[in-house]
Amino acid sequence: MKTKAAVVYETGKPIEIEELELDGPKDGEVLIRYTHAGLCHSDVHIAHGDLEARLPMVLGHEGAGVIEEVGPGVTRVKPGDHVVCSFIPNCGVCRWCATGQQAICDMGATILEGYLPGERFPFTGPKGNYGAMCMLGTFSQYSTIHQNSVVKVDDDLPLDKAVLVGCGVPTGWGSAVNAADVKPGETVIVSGVGGIGINAVQGARYAGAKNLIAVDPLQNKREKAMELGATHAVGTIEEAADLARQMTNGNGADKAVVTAGIVTEEIVTGAFDAIGKAGTVVLTGLNKLSAQNVNLPGSIFTLFKKTVKGSLFGDCNPTTDIPKILGLYQSGDLKLDELITKTYTLEQVNEGYDDLLNGKNVRGVLVHEH
Ligand SMILES: NC(=O)c1ccc[n+]([C@@H]2O[C@H](COP(=O)([O-])OP(=O)(O)OC[C@H]3O[C@@H](n4cnc5c(N)ncnc54)[C@H](O)[C@@H]3O)[C@@H](O)[C@H]2O)c1
Ligand SMILES: [Zn+2]
Ligand SMILES: [Zn+2]
Repeated sequence: MKTKAAVVYETGKPIEIEELELDGPKDGEVLIRYTHAGLCHSDVHIAHGDLEARLPMVLGHEGAGVIEEVGPGVTRVKPGDHVVCSFIPNCGVCRWCATGQQAICDMGATILEGYLPGERFPFTGPKGNYGAMCMLGTFSQYSTIHQNSVVKVDDDLPLDKAVLVGCGVPTGWGSAVNAADVKPGETVIVSGVGGIGINAVQGARYAGAKNLIAVDPLQNKREKAMELGATHAVGTIEEAADLARQMTNGNGADKAVVTAGIVTEEIVTGAFDAIGKAGTVVLTGLNKLSAQNVNLPGSIFTLFKKTVKGSLFGDCNPTTDIPKILGLYQSGDLKLDELITKTYTLEQVNEGYDDLLNGKNVRGVLVHEH
């Protein structure tokens, strides 16, 4: 079948809208009609060449929609089901899935190649085979994806909001709750308040942070952080570090979650300096895969018993954490509606990313037309 999709052909060039041919679902796969897709910074990393992906690639890895058709052997969903996509698939049986670490499932190894199991590309077009970002390609009206990439959700959940639980919400929320393991009474810094960081703010607040300091150079982001649970919001990590020390008898923050759009050495060093004894820095934001952005004094690690760790998908297990987080939305313990700054059509995808790069959006959302 035909589908309209947003494609990266060449890094550094605008994203192009192309009509592509979509292959139908084979073993274990489903045909999905995407209703909504979130504009996460990671897709811009592909378009800019920060994250080196196989091109051409249909972008989009935050998505929600309706299952239209299922291939042989599909047991997780049926036609008509509403689903939120998981930007890392989970097979359920690899070493990582079997030990409660679905975010690093072995099936996720090819998310930047964009093909389905068996090196089968979902899309074909004028330039041959097209991959799908994170094996999803949510910036397409339709896609063929693996059943391990979807989580069924309640029919009455609004997909235009639930879409954010495909990446931004669990990644941010889990970076604070799971990876940083924020405990009641702690002092926590969140560095970078975009679609990911705002949810680290929400997660840290829910986990009981006493002092929750959001850092962002932009005033609109600081205001949003204060609206959704931060106790303080400042423009630089140095100001955050000073505040944290004032609040902790000079020790510093217990946790710092780094969710800036491009994580530089300066940002990492600032977070490391802001945490105190036994403190933890969680690195969630990205940079070029080759960027040597961690350059820290080992003796300070030792003498202050500090930890610096990375986190993918907020260390979440999508099959259980996506429904859990949506449950928190339903009970009013987590905000989704307030995270969406603006909606766009598929054709407006470049405008949406200009708005993200210009700091206008907490999260932009593409609304698909069929
Ligand atoms: N680890 C994961 O699983 C995972 C998942 C999704 C996205 N990401 C990455 O997380 C990062 C954030 O994504 P996003 O969609 O929220 O991006 P975004 O562009 O919406 O937000 C980034 C924010 O960082 C702020 N910022 C810029 N410089 C800063 C600085 N020096 N200090 C503090 N804040 C600063 C910007 O003003 C902006 O508000 C990206 O690198 C993205 O690729 C990681
Ligand atoms: Zn993302
Ligand atoms: Zn697995």
